[in-house]
Amino acid sequence: MKKIKISIPATVSNLVCGYDILGLALQYPCDIMELEMLDEPGIFITHIDEFGLPEDPTLNLSGIALQALLNDYTSPVGFRLTIEKKIKPGSGLGSSAAAAAGAVIGANFLLNNFYSKEELVEFAMEGEKIASGVKHADNLAPCIYGGVTLIRSLEPIDIIPMPSPELFVTVVHPQIEVKTSEARNILPKNISLKDATTQWANVAGLIAGFYSNNIPLIGRSLVDVIIEPARAALIPGLEEVKRKCMEHGAVGGGISGSGPSIFMFSQMENVAWKIEKQMMEIYTNLGIPFKTYVTTINPEGVKIISSE
Ligand code: HSE
Repeated sequence: MKKIKISIPATVSNLVCGYDILGLALQYPCDIMELEMLDEPGIFITHIDEFGLPEDPTLNLSGIALQALLNDYTSPVGFRLTIEKKIKPGSGLGSSAAAAAGAVIGANFLLNNFYSKEELVEFAMEGEKIASGVKHADNLAPCIYGGVTLIRSLEPIDIIPMPSPELFVTVVHPQIEVKTSEARNILPKNISLKDATTQWANVAGLIAGFYSNNIPLIGRSLVDVIIEPARAALIPGLEEVKRKCMEHGAVGGGISGSGPSIFMFSQMENVAWKIEKQMMEIYTNLGIPFKTYVTTINPEGVKIISSE
């Protein structure tokens, strides 16, 4: 196999209370990436999308992640990448993780799965670090493993894939820019023991909910007393979206990653569409352009579209 075309899913990280440790993969939207393995060393990148991202591999997140893999791989091979990004950078839907993860997963397929998933997360984190200023894997892990994942530790890396509940996910992406690095800089450096206790109770509740498929428990555990209060000011409409979606039957939800996207879970498809309508009305009234997605959790992560 010399060539492969893959789709790489958007991801929702944090899952409200699990800052930097929880995430899930979505069925949609997805980036599309084609990789061709070359006999000569080198990384060549072409973007066929509208985002004006750098094609120089030393500045491109896919290139940086792939170079981390090639620095470890002993044979001199190269890759030509053609990338069609559909996950907008800065959306809070794991755009940078998709760029980094797609490159290393695609290359690994062509290298006959030489590397483990954990090793791929390590390589991809080199790219992700450029986007947010620090290493974190809560978007990368679900992208690479699929489903819902827990990052118990980064050093040493310890990723726990978890059961995925059968829930619909409605996402609104208000078209405002929130830089991950800035959304991290405004976070409190110290927190009270009371808030820490509330937060880890909710993380534990959420994980118990995933394992027991207890949807009401998942819903009432989606509470963040530390990160979301600090970031709420960056996202106009956040409180209204959460309130109105809950009134219309959502299970729960909140900021996706560092924002500005907001996600809401629901149990029934018709509720997921009703929630989308609420989100649309709120951002239309605020005069902020937006995109919405109604989708489900993607248990597989990256998918192969074709290979030759
Ligand atoms: N866990 C990260 C954050 C996700 O909230 O800053 C952003 O990519």
